[in-house]
Amino acid sequence: MNDLTVIVLAAGGGTRMKSKTMKVLHPIAGRSMLGHVLAAAQALEPTRIVAVVGNQREQVVPHVRELVPDAVIAVQESQDGTGHAVRVAWQALPAEARSGTVLVAYADTPLLQGDSLRAFADFHLGSQHAMSILSGRVPDPAGYGRVIRDASGVVAIVEEREATPEQAAVDEINSGILAFDADFLDAALPRIGNDNAKREYYLTDTVALAREDGRSVGAFVLDDVKQTEGANDRAQLASLAREMNSRVLTRWMREGVTVVDPESTWIDVDVKLARDVTILPGVQLLGATVVAEDAVVGPDCTLKDVEVGEGARVVRTHGELAVIGAGADVGPFSYLRPGTVVGAGGKIGAFVEAKNARIGDGAKVPHLSYVGDAEIGEGTNIGAGTIFANYDGVEKHRTTVGRHARTGSNNTFVAPVTIGDGAATGGGTVVREDVPPGALAVSAGPQRNLEGWAQRRRAGTKQGDAAEAASRPAASPGTTPGVGDGPPGG
Ligand code: UD1
Ligand code: MG
Repeated sequence: MNDLTVIVLAAGGGTRMKSKTMKVLHPIAGRSMLGHVLAAAQALEPTRIVAVVGNQREQVVPHVRELVPDAVIAVQESQDGTGHAVRVAWQALPAEARSGTVLVAYADTPLLQGDSLRAFADFHLGSQHAMSILSGRVPDPAGYGRVIRDASGVVAIVEEREATPEQAAVDEINSGILAFDADFLDAALPRIGNDNAKREYYLTDTVALAREDGRSVGAFVLDDVKQTEGANDRAQLASLAREMNSRVLTRWMREGVTVVDPESTWIDVDVKLARDVTILPGVQLLGATVVAEDAVVGPDCTLKDVEVGEGARVVRTHGELAVIGAGADVGPFSYLRPGTVVGAGGKIGAFVEAKNARIGDGAKVPHLSYVGDAEIGEGTNIGAGTIFANYDGVEKHRTTVGRHARTGSNNTFVAPVTIGDGAATGGGTVVREDVPPGALAVSAGPQRNLEGWAQRRRAGTKQGDAAEAASRPAASPGTTPGVGDGPPGG
C-alpha cells in the first residue's frame, strides 16, 4: 500500500461555541466531531495520522490517544494559519516519515465519510498533480476560498478577503481537504508567507507555489459537498446533527428497518439494527445499541448501549447498558439501569425500575416495583409493588428469587435474602429471612376487625352513615337494592 499520512487540524479556538468543551469534542450522533473525522481517516488505513492540537489541548490529546493510540501529536502553540499548522505537523514527523502522499483534513467536519476521502486520495494518486483540492460547488460561496481555474487548469485558491469581485463570484470552493505529494509539500511549506489580510500562513498558497514550479494542481469536485461542512457554533452543530441523523436513518430504512417518524427518531452512527425492526415515533437509539430482527421499539424510548433481542417489544422506556431478551416485553414507563438483563420472554412492566438485576427467561415484574441487585429465576412472577431493598444505608446486598416462585403484592425483600424455587409469599410480606423452596412466607400479623367501629367513632360522617346503612337489616324485595343484594362477584 502507498505511504499515506493524514494530518487532522484541530488547534483552532472554536470561540463561537461559547463552551468550556473544546469545539471539536462536541458530540454529534454518538461521537465527537473529531471522532468522526478520525474514523474517516482511519478508513483509509493510512500509514500514520498526525493530529495538530493547540487550544484546550489538555482535552483534545487524551481523546485522540483514546481513539488513535498511535497518532502523532503535533502542538501548535499559536494559531498562525492552516499553512503554519501543517508546518508544525510536518516538523513533528521524523525525516523518513515525510514521504509518500499527505492528506490534510479539518477536525470540525463530522459528516466526512471515509469513502469520499478514499475517492479523493485515489484521484490524487492516479494523477501527476503536485497537489489536489477536494472542491465543491455551492450556491453561496461566502467565507470559503475560491478555486480559480484557467485554460491550463487550477491556478490558485484565493481566500475571500483577498478575492477580486470576479474571483468572489466563483462558486467552486476549497473544502479545506487537500492532498499533496510529500516532496512538493516539503519544499513548499517554508515558502508560504503571511503577507495577506489575516497575517496568517495560508496552506492554500501552495496552489500558486505549485504553478510557479511548473507543476499541475488537480481539483476533485465532490458532489456531496455537505460532507465537508464545518460547525462553528451550536446552531450549525445542530443543523449538521440533523443532517447526519437523516443520513443514518435513510441508510437503515434502505436496509429494511421501518422508521415511522424520521423527524422524531435519532440514531447514533454506531447503533446496529436488523431487518424488520420497527422504530415508532420519539425514539433515541444511542451509543452501541443493537436491535435484533422483528423487535419493535417505541413510541418514546431512549436506549443507550442496550441490546434488544429478536421480536422484543419496548415501549416508553429509558434504558442504559441493559440487555432485553428475545420476545421480552418492556414498558410502558420502565427504567432499565446498567446491568439489567431481561431474559427471553420476560417482562418488565409499568413503573418498574431495575438495576444490576437478572430477570430469568419468562420471569415477570409487571407493576410498580424496584428491582435492585437481584437474580430472579425463570418463570417467576413478582407481585405488584415489590421493593428489592438492596441498601442497608451502608452497603448494597443481593436478593435471589428462585424458579417459578410467586410472590405477593406489596412485598419488601430485605437483602441479602433468598427465596427458593417454587416458593410463595403473601401480600404485604416483608421477607427478612430466607424462604425455603416450596414454602409460603407470610409476615403480616393476623387481621383484627373491630366491629361497628365506624358507626361509633365516625357517626355523622358519610363513612359513619354508610356503615350504619349497611348494618341495617336487608330491605324487602321490590325496594332499592342494598349492599349484598347483587349477584356474587362482580
Ligand atoms: C479555510 C481555507 C479555505 C477553505 C475553508 C473551508 C485556508 C487559508 N483557507 O479557511 O480556503 O475554503 O477553510 O472551511 O486554509 N486551524 C489550525 N491552526 C491554525 C488555523 C486553523 O488548526 O493556525 C484549523 C482550524 O481549527 C480549522 C481549520 O484549521 O479546523 C480551518 O481553519 P479556519 O481558520 O477555519 O480557515 P478558514 O478561514 O475557514
Ligand atoms: Mg473555517
